[in-house]
Amino acid sequence: MAQFVHDISRTHSCGALTKADIGKEVVLMGWVDVRRDHGGVIFVDLRDREGMTQVIFNPEINEEVHKLGRFLRNEYVMAVKGKVVERPAGMVNAKLKSGEIEVHVIEFEVLNPSKNPPFMIQDEVTVSEEMRLKYRYLDLRRKGLRDNMILRHWVMQGTRHYLSHHGFIEVETPFLTKSTPEGARDYLVPARLYPGHFYALPQSPQLFKQLLMVAGMERYFQIVRCFRDEDLRADRQPEFTQIDLELSFINQNDLIKVMEGLIQAIWREAKGIELSLPFPRITYQESMERFGLDAPDMRFGLELVEVTDVLRETQFKVFAETLEQKGIIKAINVKGGAGLSRKNLDELASFVGVYGAKGMVSIKNSEEGWQSSAAKFFSEKEKKALTEKTQFEKGDLLIFVAAPTKIANDALGNLRERLGEQLGLIDSKSLKFVWVVDFPLFDYDTVAKRHVAIHHPFTSPKPEDIAFLDSEPLKVRSNAYDLVLNGNEIGGGSIRIHDSATQKKVFQLLNIGDEEAQEKFGFLLEALSFGAPPHGGIAFGLDRIIMLMTGATSIRDVIAFPKTQKGVCPLTEAPSLVKAEQLEELGLRLKPV
Ligand code: AMO
Repeated sequence: MAQFVHDISRTHSCGALTKADIGKEVVLMGWVDVRRDHGGVIFVDLRDREGMTQVIFNPEINEEVHKLGRFLRNEYVMAVKGKVVERPAGMVNAKLKSGEIEVHVIEFEVLNPSKNPPFMIQDEVTVSEEMRLKYRYLDLRRKGLRDNMILRHWVMQGTRHYLSHHGFIEVETPFLTKSTPEGARDYLVPARLYPGHFYALPQSPQLFKQLLMVAGMERYFQIVRCFRDEDLRADRQPEFTQIDLELSFINQNDLIKVMEGLIQAIWREAKGIELSLPFPRITYQESMERFGLDAPDMRFGLELVEVTDVLRETQFKVFAETLEQKGIIKAINVKGGAGLSRKNLDELASFVGVYGAKGMVSIKNSEEGWQSSAAKFFSEKEKKALTEKTQFEKGDLLIFVAAPTKIANDALGNLRERLGEQLGLIDSKSLKFVWVVDFPLFDYDTVAKRHVAIHHPFTSPKPEDIAFLDSEPLKVRSNAYDLVLNGNEIGGGSIRIHDSATQKKVFQLLNIGDEEAQEKFGFLLEALSFGAPPHGGIAFGLDRIIMLMTGATSIRDVIAFPKTQKGVCPLTEAPSLVKAEQLEELGLRLKPV
């Protein structure tokens, strides 16, 4: 076969040809997706990034070509010159854009053969994820993953386009830097020229973007890799990408407005969906009261109801003991849930146990009245009040958790999400965005016995709460906000502290002493004293956004080369051991393991 590719150009992609092209001579290049040899005629589905086209090797058209076509195998790369022909009636494939035509091969060339792939390149694969990641370059040939990468590209382009037109400039910040306090462990890089010294890979560009505001950049963005050494979950990766932003001379309302415009632009660009603005906002406190979590899934009801007041005088020992210890009692009315089986309820009870709740009490409202081992302890007055407060009706199931506030919210909040899924209350097509605002500035770490920043130490307190900074720090609310989509935190940010006196004060409350503050963030404190403008920002989790847009169940399906749940790359086998000389050069010695 003549080598014709050298002087012939690809004319179309494998996703381009339609009936309009019938009669044309074309050149396609791509991979053999499937070869079907029907004795007489050979059919090859030729695949490239854009789609698939059926090409036909017919001995009646060209005997030599047909003979050679027999040697084609899956994943061979080839170039085909042929004629676009209408498919015979009954052979049309409605699922393919090119399904009404086929290409009759005049000439072809194998550009590269392929070993037999370890798994079939098709939508559903049965091999382990480990295997898929080892051969990720083959895995990425599958349509689903390829489409995710293309969507990701458009989200990035949409982001750049929108932000460039709203006065933002893209600035890169260092990867070899100093530790940034986002709450995870740092990845460290030894500095060869300074034995014993390390760079840290940034957990986010937080400090640099604030410095860029001091530098007068006014509006910054970056689509940037962040590194966090934390326990991995389905929606977390050790290196992930943020759409990171910072704005000067901005208040929270205006910032939220610009960000809603960005989210709207992204969905329009990548999905052709027009989101309606503004998104609803709820305070952190309301979110905890109604949903038990700070990232509420607003696609369904099943809201939590606090019944502590109603049961203040309860004779039910478990509840009474909780109340004595200043705990609370919260309930969920599972509408129409009276039919849940014993087994089901036992499962739910062990589920809440995972969140630290000692137990769960449930009452069925059946034709025979309230059914529960606890029901007899409730007075008529309590029953009436509970009925009213939770709108408990025949056929319903009332679930209670009595525990310290944090545990009760966490247990019931997660139970609510589980019930929402289990009972089919969630419309998977629906997109429910919500801003959660007014986060507390601090939390109390009972293990370390000290205050910790809920967002990060650069978040500003609400001016009306500054008076409580010394007396009741836990009461102080902050100018921090998260954007939540269908129960997933997709972004978080805050208006920052822009004066060094308040920043010092917050460090003090976080038990970061002067010396430590100076050592870790002295450069920021100093910068704040050189006319730092008021500023604030946010970062969106790009991978999470793509995951939700595509309906992928794992963040790994929207990242080209992700790490496994154990933080390993099966393809490159990172992390790996290094040579003794490299350690020597870095002045490092390993502890024997
Ligand atoms: P935060 O820590 O809330 O804020 O991160 C912002 C967003 O990044 C995403 N995200 C992750 N995605 C995948 N894997 C991870 N391990 C991971 N961790 C976080 C989430 C989250 O909402 N500097 C601040 C932002 C600011 O204040 O401007 C920051 O990094 O979607």
